[in-house]
Amino acid sequence: MSDGSILVVDDEKNIRRTLALVLEGEGFTVTDAGTAEEALDLLERRRFDMLMLDVCLPGMDGIAALRLIHEQDADLPVVMISGHASVRDAVEATRAGAFDFIEKPLGRERVLVTVRNALQARSRANELQTLRAATRSQVSGLLGRSPVMERLREQIAKVAPTRARILITGESGTGKELVARAIHEQSDRASRPFVKVNCAAIPNDLIESTLFGHEKGAFTSAVGRRRGNFELADTGTLFLDEIGDMSLTAQAKVLRVLQTGEMTRVGGETPVQVDVRVLAATNKDLEQACREGTFREDLYFRLNVVPLQTPPLRTRRGDVGLLAEHFAEQVCAENGFRSKPFEAEALRRLEAFDWPGNVRELRNMVERLVILSGEQITVDDLPADLARRSRPALGVGEDVFEQGSLRDFREAAEQAFISARLAAHDWNISRTAESLDLERTNLHKKIKALGIRREG
Ligand SMILES: Nc1ncnc2c1ncn2[C@@H]1O[C@H](COP(=O)(O)OP(=O)(O)OP(=O)(O)O)[C@@H](O)[C@H]1O
Ligand SMILES: [Mg+2]
Repeated sequence: MSDGSILVVDDEKNIRRTLALVLEGEGFTVTDAGTAEEALDLLERRRFDMLMLDVCLPGMDGIAALRLIHEQDADLPVVMISGHASVRDAVEATRAGAFDFIEKPLGRERVLVTVRNALQARSRANELQTLRAATRSQVSGLLGRSPVMERLREQIAKVAPTRARILITGESGTGKELVARAIHEQSDRASRPFVKVNCAAIPNDLIESTLFGHEKGAFTSAVGRRRGNFELADTGTLFLDEIGDMSLTAQAKVLRVLQTGEMTRVGGETPVQVDVRVLAATNKDLEQACREGTFREDLYFRLNVVPLQTPPLRTRRGDVGLLAEHFAEQVCAENGFRSKPFEAEALRRLEAFDWPGNVRELRNMVERLVILSGEQITVDDLPADLARRSRPALGVGEDVFEQGSLRDFREAAEQAFISARLAAHDWNISRTAESLDLERTNLHKKIKALGIRREG
């Protein structure tokens, strides 16, 4: 890394000259300034990748300048330089967000190491910004390039601008809430409120007043009038999460609002008009709940004008790597770690796992891995049960299981079986062939036909 533009701020000319000599000798571009004021002026007009900033300066001191600089650009690494470094200076500088702190006299090696670290931090911050921007442009954080995710995104784009009620179903952790938010954000109500109600979390006797509010004195604890979620979401979107857990009484009341566009506060008499788009989500089978009598069929039909399904992660294994890397990046950024890459084999194991808790479980796992691993995330970092469970009994993917022909199934199973045996025998063909009761030449043919390759 030879490019990098550095602004050196020090009132001593000698220091500026020495630093320029050392840094330019390594291919960096150096600009200098004798005061904080001059530096701030330069920063307004030009882009720098990092700063070296003296603590003691005539006029505005270095720490004050650092604060101002970070108000403009919080990610700009600033290395503080101090002549008579006191612990207090160092602490204060760190608090003000300095990247590092070096003492005069400046040793060449120490300067170079610090500068390289700072520039690396800068380029990571840039990458992260690009990544964040890319994520934003992708339907509000719904990641995934698998065909099922593309289809879901298309469906969202189609239904979002309409007023249609949408029922989002899918297993736990598959992104139902993300989908609801994406629909809201892509609708013409985007700038209006998005109100989420977790129907499972509200006690039965409170659900009515939560949804519809209450008038003063409606019940003992109702000291004043309170607006409910339907009113709060007026002109916006109301997301009824875990709707499958709503009591039958509450269901009847919600149904009435959907039918009439009016609601009444608890203890109130005058109906209130509300203009609310309702989205609902559940991981329960509502049709079955209707048959069992725990969910009103008429409400089900009203909510389910457009059904959307979030696919379980095991049906889109191709997205696991992308999600894992995205989450790792996020966790590193949140904790101020440098990026930690995944070893290829570790990613492969994650992909092979079935993820009963879906994306949420993957996210939690990645968070744990990032925090507990060294510089890279390796197979050894994976919990033993994951490594074990990720070897599916037959090595046959869900896609083949659900849509493949008998031949696809046989090939997938054979491939997994032979690969495992080869690995177990360290790719010794004779021994593997013997263990499989096959001729060596036949094993060779199989390996070729099934496209089995040695990994690592
Ligand atoms: N496609 C995706 N891309 C990126 N992140 C995702 C995706 N799907 C889910 N997530 C993340 O996984 C976590 C769980 O998502 P969410 O809460 O939307 O799931 P859910 O289907 O509502 O789950 P539950 O039924 O348990 O409430 C969140 O942190 C969410 O940001
Ligand atoms: Mg949810």
